[in-house]
Amino acid sequence: MRRTVIAGNWKMNKTFSEAEDFFISLTDALNEKPEDEFDNLEVIVCPPAVFLELATDFSVESPLSIGGQDVSAENQGAFTGEISADMYNSIQVDYCIVGHSERRKYHSESDSLINMKIKRLLENEVTPIFCIGETLEQRENDITKEVIISQLENGLADINMEDEVIIAYEPVWAIGTGKVATPEQAQEIHQEIRNWLNYKYGKEIAENTILLYGGSMKPANELELLKQPDIDGGLIGGASLVNDTFEEMIDIALQLRG
Ligand code: 13P
Repeated sequence: MRRTVIAGNWKMNKTFSEAEDFFISLTDALNEKPEDEFDNLEVIVCPPAVFLELATDFSVESPLSIGGQDVSAENQGAFTGEISADMYNSIQVDYCIVGHSERRKYHSESDSLINMKIKRLLENEVTPIFCIGETLEQRENDITKEVIISQLENGLADINMEDEVIIAYEPVWAIGTGKVATPEQAQEIHQEIRNWLNYKYGKEIAENTILLYGGSMKPANELELLKQPDIDGGLIGGASLVNDTFEEMIDIALQLRG
């Protein structure tokens, strides 16, 4: 059975003391629950890179995993400002978001660059959370499925999927807009992704790959999204910044799947 994943993407938010307060409250809440509740549920927080070491200090003592928000396509060397997958591995950062639409938009990231980043992560035993999704214009032009398949084909080129890759479907028009995809819209694309995985890699990989939905997910719409057969969890932006809200979302997932 696929595990459920509730992942928070903080983007560029919080100061050090705000991050510290958040992790104190979150790990207290997680540690109060019986350990076996987390057999089928994984909670991941992806803070800005400067807070990763703080985050991993907290994660050691609780059922919490930590992820980066981006990674260099290179292994090491003269790449000012970049962070390598090997650095993440060296501080127990087990996940990393890659190909987020904000990186595609504001940093002109191409599918082939994203493909290199996924390869660096896998070489260094960091699980990629690979984001794909169509813009509003693409959806209105009825090319959503073509866009998704092309992002998958190019982003995962030459990757055998024997190591875990989590895929996050994040329709760009639903990110930070309050406009959430309906459970049916999200399920339709998740099913399409799983069908593509089946065609490309076979049944076992298709059935075991975790697919997350992202885009204005919050307590009010989470349950209906998670009830969909091909949606295994969420990649949550705004709602992951507030302890009460994020903790409520973890509780909703636990009630459904824990
Ligand atoms: P929001 O939940 O704020 O819409 O952001 C989603 C997202 O981009 C997560 O990566």
